[in-house]
Amino acid sequence: MTPPGSLLCAERLHKAYGPTVALDGAGFSIHPGEIVAVMGPSGSGKSTLLHCLAGIVTPDSGTITYDGRELSAMNDAQRSALRRSEFGFVFQFGQLVPELTCVENVALPLRLNGTPRKEAERAALSWLERLEVDDLAKKRPGEVSGGQGQRVAVARALVTRPRVLFADEPTGALDSLNGERVMELLTEAARATSAAVVLVTHEARVAAYSDREIVVRDGRSRDMEHAI
Ligand SMILES: Nc1ncnc2c1ncn2[C@@H]1O[C@H](COP(=O)(O)OP(=O)(O)OP(=O)(O)O)[C@@H](O)[C@H]1O
Ligand SMILES: [Mg+2]
Repeated sequence: MTPPGSLLCAERLHKAYGPTVALDGAGFSIHPGEIVAVMGPSGSGKSTLLHCLAGIVTPDSGTITYDGRELSAMNDAQRSALRRSEFGFVFQFGQLVPELTCVENVALPLRLNGTPRKEAERAALSWLERLEVDDLAKKRPGEVSGGQGQRVAVARALVTRPRVLFADEPTGALDSLNGERVMELLTEAARATSAAVVLVTHEARVAAYSDREIVVRDGRSRDMEHAI
């Protein structure tokens, strides 16, 4: 049963890679604007869960419902349109396009959605300002620090004003001071745009920025709010 008011919800997800069981009945739900941390040890299935929720990986069984629509009922084109228009992504290593400047990187999702160049770059610049890295607009990713690159990646993920931001260890490659700042800016920007955030992390310090925690262990999930 989809919890009332949930934006994205998964039930009884199973996923195996050959003999390796990555998900073994995991569930998940998030409300609009909510920040949920997905915690758990390495190899427990956190990234697989995130990829299933985002429609990147198809589970072997189980259901995923986004805004009342079942992901499995959509074809590939519909799922990728959903990812482009409603979802944003930040990964451990920013995965910025090295040939493009920072402002061009942030403008890219808008350009792909058909926004004219000037308008896209104006919006991108205001997002770089928000993440306090507008001074890097003309630099290429190879010329900025890890923490700065992650801020640019957050700007790129939010520039389309997604309803869900998927972040997989967004501060995993940063020292704690830079990590904290990225998390502050990420959560501030997500709250300002009412984006829900699925935040995969194994650091309690990062999870502290969430509203609620889900723990994944051996492919099964536990909602800590209801775990007592
Ligand atoms: N594409 C794949 N092919 C084969 N096995 C995979 C694949 N993706 C994940 N797995 C396996 O599924 C299990 C869960 O992996 P997953 O990446 O979801 O873990 P995780 O919790 O994100 O771990 P980490 O904290 O190290 O990132 C692991 O045993 C992993 O080796
Ligand atoms: Mg992972």
